[in-house]
Amino acid sequence: MSEPAPRHWEIFLEVFEALPRQGPGSRASTARALKLCGDLPPSPSVLDLGCGTGAQTLHLAELTSGCIVAIDSHAPSIERLCQTVTDLGLANRVFPRVGDIAHPQEPPESFDLVWSEGALYNLGLERALPICRDMLRPRAYLGFTDAIWRKQSPPPEVRAMFEDYPTMGTVGDALGVIAQSGLSTVGHFTLPHEAWWDDFYAPMERRIETLRTTYAGAPNALAALEEVAQEPEIHRRHSAYYAYEFFVARR
Ligand SMILES: C[S@@+](CC[C@H](N)C(=O)[O-])C[C@H]1O[C@@H](n2cnc3c(N)ncnc32)[C@H](O)[C@@H]1O
Repeated sequence: MSEPAPRHWEIFLEVFEALPRQGPGSRASTARALKLCGDLPPSPSVLDLGCGTGAQTLHLAELTSGCIVAIDSHAPSIERLCQTVTDLGLANRVFPRVGDIAHPQEPPESFDLVWSEGALYNLGLERALPICRDMLRPRAYLGFTDAIWRKQSPPPEVRAMFEDYPTMGTVGDALGVIAQSGLSTVGHFTLPHEAWWDDFYAPMERRIETLRTTYAGAPNALAALEEVAQEPEIHRRHSAYYAYEFFVARR
């Protein structure tokens, strides 16, 4: 029997779509960042950019009583979030839709809070932050996470892991871009160890193990899984070189 030869991207999606989150993050970190947004209205209007399958969207829906528009470009993630929203009875105030962070297609200055966990790197902060800013009402808040360098001269495999982060810099660089974008930083903190593992790398490694069994005898698939498995391994060895930082800013 010939092997289905799934491409790397298909395997990548098969791993990532099944995870509780598609990037580093945790309920504790989302709650801590939201607390920095001191004077939000009681029912804020929220825009969640690059929501993925919506872990932080649903948590924001728990932590606030506001309406949340959640945008992601990957239709299957939005389909899954729509189903969860319906199952949880949140369809009257959580509105997932397929969309592009670069063109949120929402009226300018219409949100009390713009949120984005692990997604703005796709545009780069220089491009993404002015877009976020334009969505904010005066004095409204922006909370986002982004990868940052902690040490110079990372090993080549670490550089390769972040090749999709063309404008990645230090915390200081990110704070500079926040200021240049017409925003004031309210606070920032580094995501802790467990924000990488509990809902992201630990379930990822379990998922990879399951798929290794599913694809036993399919060398192309196993090779693709091996490649995906490098990411948590690199994190085990080299997390001193990089981190994810939560930034909260306001207009
Ligand atoms: C690392 S994942 C983070 C997802 C989610 N926020 C989380 O933390 O679980 C990045 C997400 O950004 C989405 N994305 C990438 N580029 C995008 C764009 N231009 N517009 C909207 N979503 C985008 C991807 O589909 C993916 O779901």
